[in-house]
Order: sequence, then C-alpha cells, then structure tokens
Amino acid sequence: MIGFLDRLARPLLHALDPEDAHGLAIKMLKFAPLPPAPRDDKRLALRVFGLNVPNPIGIAAGFDKNAEVPDALLRLGFGFVEVGTITPEPQPGNPRPRLFRLDADHGVINRLGFNSQGYDAALKRLAARGSAGGVVGINVGANKESADRVADYVQLIERFAAVASYVTVNISSPNTPGLRNLQQASVLDDLLARVVDARERVAPNAGPTPVLLKIAPDLSLGDLDDVVGIARSRRVDGMIVGNTTVARPPNLLEKVIAKEAGGLSGRPLFPLANRMLAETYVRVEGVFPLIGAGGIDSGATALAKIRAGASLIQVYSGLVFRGLGLIAEIKNALLEALEDDGQDTLEEFIGADAAAVTAEPWPK
Ligand SMILES: Cc1cc2nc3c(=O)[nH]c(=O)nc-3n(C[C@H](O)[C@H](O)[C@H](O)COP(=O)(O)O)c2cc1C
Repeated sequence: MIGFLDRLARPLLHALDPEDAHGLAIKMLKFAPLPPAPRDDKRLALRVFGLNVPNPIGIAAGFDKNAEVPDALLRLGFGFVEVGTITPEPQPGNPRPRLFRLDADHGVINRLGFNSQGYDAALKRLAARGSAGGVVGINVGANKESADRVADYVQLIERFAAVASYVTVNISSPNTPGLRNLQQASVLDDLLARVVDARERVAPNAGPTPVLLKIAPDLSLGDLDDVVGIARSRRVDGMIVGNTTVARPPNLLEKVIAKEAGGLSGRPLFPLANRMLAETYVRVEGVFPLIGAGGIDSGATALAKIRAGASLIQVYSGLVFRGLGLIAEIKNALLEALEDDGQDTLEEFIGADAAAVTAEPWPK
C-alpha cells in the first residue's frame, strides 16, 4: 500500500509547486486507508528520554505543522513523529513563494516563517487522539509579533504537556526575525529556566514531559559551549541538532535558487549538521541524549548520524527526493550494521565516531 501510494504520488508531487505538493501530501495522508505499520524488529527499539520508540527514525518538525496526520505518519513506519512548529496564535507566515526545491543538489530552501493554525486547532486534534499511542512530540515556537516571546514558549508548554510525548523548544528557525537570538546565553538561561519551571508546574496533572531544545547548525563553537552548558545546568532532557542552515555551501549546483533567502536542508546540509551533532555530543558528555537531523537521505547517512552522536534521527527533505521507501531502507541498513557488528541493540553505535568527526577539517 505504501509503495503503491508512493509510486503513484511522487511524479505528481514533483510536477507541482513545492508548497502545493506538500498540501496534497497532507491531504493524501488524511484520507489514505493506511494499515497499521508492521511490527519493527525488536533490535531497532530504544528507550530515550524515558520514551519507548519501536525504531529510531522520526519525521522532523515542519512536515505536519498543525498536527493533522500524526497517526498516519506512525502507520508509515516512523518510530516517532514531531508535529509543529505550533505558535500560540494563528499566523500566516511569509508571502509565497517561500519553499524551493534544489533538485540537482537534493536540497530544499524554506522561508515559511512559522505558518501555523495556532495552538487551539492543534490541541483539539491532539486531544482527540485520546489514547492512540505512539510517540508524538510537539515542536513549539513564538509568534512573530509577540511582545514576550519567552511567555509564548511557557504557555505552549503548559497547554501541550498533557498531550505531548515530548515538547521541543524551537529557537532556531531562521525565518522569524530575531528568533535565533534566544540562543544567546543570557536570554537562553532565562528561557530554559522558565520553560522547565512551567513543565514542573503542570507535571502533577500532565505527567512527566521531556523538554528538548532544537538548535541551529550555524552556531559558533563558542556559542555551542554556552548553549550546551546552559542546557545541562537547566536540566533539559535532550537537544535536537539541528535546524536548517542560513549558510550556502559553495559547491551547490542550483546557483540561482541557492540565492533565495531561508533555511537550507537536505543533502547539502549533511556535513555541517553532522559536525555540529558530534560537537554537541562531546560537550554533553552523555548527560542527555540527542536527536540528529539534517541531510539524512540513505541508510549510510542515517548510520553516520547515529555514530556521530544521535540516539534518534529525524528526516524531512530526504523524503522529498527518496520517497517513503527511505524509511524501510534505513531500517534495513541499521539491521545490517547490527548483524555485521554482532550487536543486538543500536546503543553501541551512538556516538562511536563523535570524537573522530570532530577531528576532521571543518566542512565547507
Ligand atoms: C519545508 C520545511 C519546513 C520546516 N519547518 C520547520 C518547523 O516548523 N520547525 C522546525 O523546528 N523545523 C522545521 N524544519 C526543519 C526540519 O525539521 C529539519 O530540522 C531540517 O529540515 C533538517 O532535516 P532534513 O535535512 O532532513 O530536512 C523545516 C524544514 C523544511 C524543509
């Protein structure tokens, strides 16, 4: 069924404007009669942030921004789903066009700017899931016009904690002016203190909700020292490394589209994202786990991410170019790596190459 849908949809989706194609993909997932995903090989299962995932492959934030299809995504075989970014108030985001495919590079540039139906619509959908199960994280962000952005994060944590497997504090989108300044040490310390405090306040009713911090791959290593130090001292449960990059690697083939403003993702992001993941891993010293995102489009890049320090991985742009078959391809590659290594869990791979990756020349 999934293979059939995929083969049917991909040529059509690629012929469309990228944002129309995305809208159609969400509609198809809403209405396609997907069977439950087959059970994963138990060697792919992990326990991370106190959550049990059947496999380490998640879909990254930005695909299901309004929590419309989390259960369909779980049925496609993802081990976990991150919905959002969700803002408190509905907002339209930036004017179109704002989403571009770099076909020759297998990359994407987006400057969507947190188009969001707002928390109310998403909360209703998530509450309606009831006890549907599966790990569904909620990625939250501030409204562009908000007078108090920290307060936006606090209220979203309070409101979503009861329906979220985890909450991601997204301060790394390049498309909301000034948002990434929340990564600066003095601001970040206050933000995380208040966010963790909010989580504790609602925990008696909502239960424990891991709080993750999603960072930009464009931080300097000095800034990364600060961010990891604060994340550790404020006791966040994990970090996601990372978001899209504002950098444009010099070897991009789609020179004209590469000039579009926004965040670059997909294959061209892999070297930088993987390096920043490894740099984060060595600084975190095992205190909390990491989710690795950025440029995964094969079994080999998925395994490299885990070996650079990711306990879990997330994909988005790779699905655009490789289709849904990517999920099974990654699972098979991970199982093969386990066989080759005589392991029966992925634990041994996590961070195995982190030190080596940080010793490589800085990626261009
Ligand atoms: C079209 C698009 C929209 C995105 N929207 C969000 C978002 O709302 N919130 C967020 O934290 N990340 C967002 N991202 C970033 C992804 O979650 C991910 O971190 C990034 O794309 C790197 O992974 P990839 O190379 O596999 O795409 C978006 C990415 C794309 C391509």
